[in-house]
Amino acid sequence: MIKAIIYESKTSHTLRYAKMLSEKLKIPYYTLNEALEHLTKEDKTIFLGWICAGKIKGKTKLKDNFNIVIYGAVGAYPFSSNYLNELKKSNQIDKPLFYLRGGIDYSKLNIFQKIIVKLVGKTRKQKDATTKEMFHKGYDFVSEKNIEEILKYIQINYSN
Ligand SMILES: Cc1cc2nc3c(=O)[nH]c(=O)nc-3n(C[C@H](O)[C@H](O)[C@H](O)COP(=O)(O)O)c2cc1C
Repeated sequence: MIKAIIYESKTSHTLRYAKMLSEKLKIPYYTLNEALEHLTKEDKTIFLGWICAGKIKGKTKLKDNFNIVIYGAVGAYPFSSNYLNELKKSNQIDKPLFYLRGGIDYSKLNIFQKIIVKLVGKTRKQKDATTKEMFHKGYDFVSEKNIEEILKYIQINYSN
């Protein structure tokens, strides 16, 4: 059984996925600091972090304090198995990793972050029209549909 969700979020997309999963699985969701107070090293947990320049934020701060059995990465790009594999490799993840599409909320970013997002938007050549529009103006892709796969995996492997 999975005990809780730990998350790191800057502009709330990841927080909203943490809340959604928490409601579906009927388990609590914690920031990293809260998790240190509430969870032991043995408790099986899910970690969700947002992607910043290819890195899953918060992952390195977990250290050996938690028993993460599933990871979720929240990013702006559309899902692709290539992207998922890249993320798994560059973030040294040896457990199942799920991609949850977040979005971009320019209203919550400072000038430096806006510049980095614009640069990130140029790193991948093939982009659909919606993705181009998102990098231009911002967009919210958070949806219940995006957690279906992770929920199915949990249902099969952990009976909560
Ligand atoms: C500075 C910065 C760098 C980012 N780098 C990436 C990236 O490399 N890949 C990606 O898919 N999304 C990237 N994004 C988009 C975020 O991952 C996306 O906005 C996510 O939904 C943020 O989650 P949050 O709202 O929980 O903070 C970046 C966003 C910012 C602000």
